[in-house]
Amino acid sequence: MAEIIGRKIIKFDGIDSTNNYATKIAGNSEVFEGTMVLANEQFSGRGQINNTWESEPGANVLASIIFYPEFLPVHYQFMLSKVVSLGVTDCVSTYVEEVKVKWPNDIYVGNKKVAGILIENSIMGMNIGWSVAGIGLNVNQMVFQSNAPNPVSIAMLLGNKIPLSEVVSRLCKCIDKWYTKLKNNEANTINQAYIEHLYRFGIESDYHDKEGFFRGKICAINKIGQLQIEKTNGVIGTYHFKEVVFL
Ligand code: BTN
Repeated sequence: MAEIIGRKIIKFDGIDSTNNYATKIAGNSEVFEGTMVLANEQFSGRGQINNTWESEPGANVLASIIFYPEFLPVHYQFMLSKVVSLGVTDCVSTYVEEVKVKWPNDIYVGNKKVAGILIENSIMGMNIGWSVAGIGLNVNQMVFQSNAPNPVSIAMLLGNKIPLSEVVSRLCKCIDKWYTKLKNNEANTINQAYIEHLYRFGIESDYHDKEGFFRGKICAINKIGQLQIEKTNGVIGTYHFKEVVFL
């Protein structure tokens, strides 16, 4: 079956944010599912929790993909985040080893972040109407200026630069593969793969929550996408995004 992700690409040399553009056009009847908005440069690239996203012009993939997962109940919206995370993980894994997903959807190699994902949804009754997945994938940038704690690019890890067009087409194929599984109701396969790729899963590590410092092991992601950590005292903590800090 033909891929839907990237069947139409809208490319900008410079734009404020590909997510801003994609969320404006999403839902228009002439905008197909799988449309990808790409830019060489963003003037106000957005990260999670109002952070900015740094990217040297022309060096990295800056993409926003429009989905219409109308079959997905709002309370399962984290499934789309898993699908996009697994697609980006597979794409990066064609170049480097040991690629992991740091909950909820940061893509890590070792202890460094190679990609970030920002998902914005519209709600239609009990289901999702449109969803825009913004992906910032660091490919050829060699130096990062901002105070983001631990950025890395594929080229920094590989020692050589790679054509962005090649990465974009791999990315489309990889996300398409996982999105097709979501549409085909293969939630178990997606959940299992997400856990297999989860950064620090089952590894005792240091964390901080509203009660303070603790050690524990990530033991599950619940149905609505919350992180569960079993503390060394046996208590299981359940967290929404930003309620726990990985130390
Ligand atoms: C994060 O903070 O980890 C998420 C970063 C998401 C950045 C991408 S770059 C393409 C798209 N457009 C934006 O403004 N943000 C996302």
